[in-house]
Parts: sequence; structure tokens; C-alpha cells
Amino acid sequence: MSATAAQAHPNIALIKYWGKQDKPGNLPATPNLSITLAELTTRTRVSSAGRDELWLNGNRKEDPKVNGFLAALRKKFAVEPLKIESENNFPTGAGLASSASGFAALITAINEHAQLGLNRELMSEWARRGSASAARSLFSGYVALVPPMWRAHQLAPASHMPLNVVVAITNRQTKSVSSTQGMEYSRLTSPYYSAWLRGGPDDFAAASSAINQRDFEALAQISELSCLKMHSLMLTSNPTLSYWNPATVACMDAVRDLRNQGCAVFFTIDAGPQLKAVCLPEATSQVAATLKNIVGDEQVIVCGMGDAAGLIEP
Ligand code: PMV
Repeated sequence: MSATAAQAHPNIALIKYWGKQDKPGNLPATPNLSITLAELTTRTRVSSAGRDELWLNGNRKEDPKVNGFLAALRKKFAVEPLKIESENNFPTGAGLASSASGFAALITAINEHAQLGLNRELMSEWARRGSASAARSLFSGYVALVPPMWRAHQLAPASHMPLNVVVAITNRQTKSVSSTQGMEYSRLTSPYYSAWLRGGPDDFAAASSAINQRDFEALAQISELSCLKMHSLMLTSNPTLSYWNPATVACMDAVRDLRNQGCAVFFTIDAGPQLKAVCLPEATSQVAATLKNIVGDEQVIVCGMGDAAGLIEP
């Protein structure tokens, strides 16, 4: 039976998405913006099967999000049962956006396999239904996910202001509270959620203009603020959510020290304990050496900005 394969990179948001609109479609409540990570890759192969089967990193899995995604797709398109085999070359479900690269690779592979005829914007919309951040992994460069359509688009190519991302892995275990669950706690219970909604469009606009003007320092300031606002929502949710560990905090302090010394770097952290230090290329070796001192050589991955999701040899 013929197979089709696609690959996609996870992305990290510089302006975060945390909280959905209270209506169907898996729509973020605020505009958000990200870059993809070239060295981290999900490869997904789909082939026809007697019934749906999902294999993740070689293990058979049942995933309600994937099942829901396929069910929604089949309301619109004739998609026969599929064997889906997906491999990540990085820790899965540990705050490294494996669901973003996962759904971006999956829709890219299914679009070809089942001849759905979707263009990249429409694939982005479908990926968003699986995991909203996945909409952004369909594109390379600086990527925005904004109203009214909530399909991602490229704001600027990577060549406009190339960045590197030094990932410090502080704990490889799967997180105990998923992003979907965590952001719902925050929406319903954090006293700061309404302030987050009010500030979202301005934060997005400030980051877009910093990128437009190639102003790394302005991008650093607004990105760290967006990250810390999101983690403040998490901490003030009921039940409280705390994704950091002591090594995460040590890495944050080290990045702040580097920045105070004039090094062009800032940190961002998603729903997990890993820290991503985003820097101008010339700062990369200093940033990597500093983070290796904290988490160990093996736990640091240096990434460039990645390509868009695309087909590969099965
Ligand atoms: O798309 P989800 O459901 O995996 O949520 C992503 C949430 C964050 O990664 C924490 C922020 C973001 O914008 O990617």
C-alpha cells in the first residue's frame, strides 16, 4: 500500500497563545507569533489501513486529539482509515511543542495522501483545529496567527533577521497537565486573565513592529514579557500550574545576566520546564556555553529557524 510522508518543525511562540475563545474551532483568544526550530523535527508517514492506527515513536497510541481531528476531517472529506506513524527526534509532550509539529506534519501528509487539495493557509486552519499552535508550523520565518481567519501567515522570512534558539532541556519527562487543560484553568480562574486579553493585541503589535524594524532589543523585551505574563496566569490559576524547576530558574537568571552584559539574548518558556534562549547568531556560542554549565552538554540543542512543513520521501 503506498505511503506518504511529511515533516514539520515545532515552533516557539515569542508572543504567546494561552486561552481559547469560548466558541467552536479551537480559536486562540489573542494574536500570537512564533518561529520554528530547524533541528527539532517530527516525521509522519501515513498509509491506508483497515482501521485507524497511531504509532508514536514506535509505540501504539490512542490519542483523543488525533481521533477528534480525523473525525472532523472526515465530516468534510472522504479520508479512508489510516495508519499514522510519527517520530520525533526530541522529547515528546515535554514543553517542546511536539503537538505543533505533529499536527502540521499530519495534515501535510494527509493532504497529499488523500488528495484533499488544500493550500498552505487551509492546511494551517486544519492544523489549528488539532492544536492551535500547530497552525504556525506550516510556515517558515516569523509567523503570525491572528484574527479574523486564524490561519497562520508569514510576517517576514528568516533572512530578514536570522535568530538562533538555544534549547536547554531541564527535564525530559512528559508534563502532567496538558496545555489545553492548563489554559482552560487559567481562562476560568486566573484573576489576571482579563488583563491578559486586554494586553494581547498591543503585545503582538509591539513584537511585529520590532521584527519589522529588526530591533532585537525591543523584540527581547516584549517576548520575555509575554512569556512571563503567561506564566503569571499559570501560577495564579486554580489549581495552580507551575512548569518551572530550579534549573529552569537558574537558566532564566543566566540569560538575564548575559543580557545585562550586552549579549543579544532573551528567554522564552512554554508549558514545560525547558528554557529556550533566543539570540542573534553571533551570541550563540556564549549562550550555549553558559546554559551547558547549568544543565550539562548533552541537554543543550542549538537550533536555527526552520523551514515550513513539507513532504518528504516516505
Ligand atoms: O497549541 P497548544 O494547545 O499546544 O498550546 C500551546 C501553548 C504554548 O505553547 C504554551 C504557547 C504557544 O503559543 O505556543
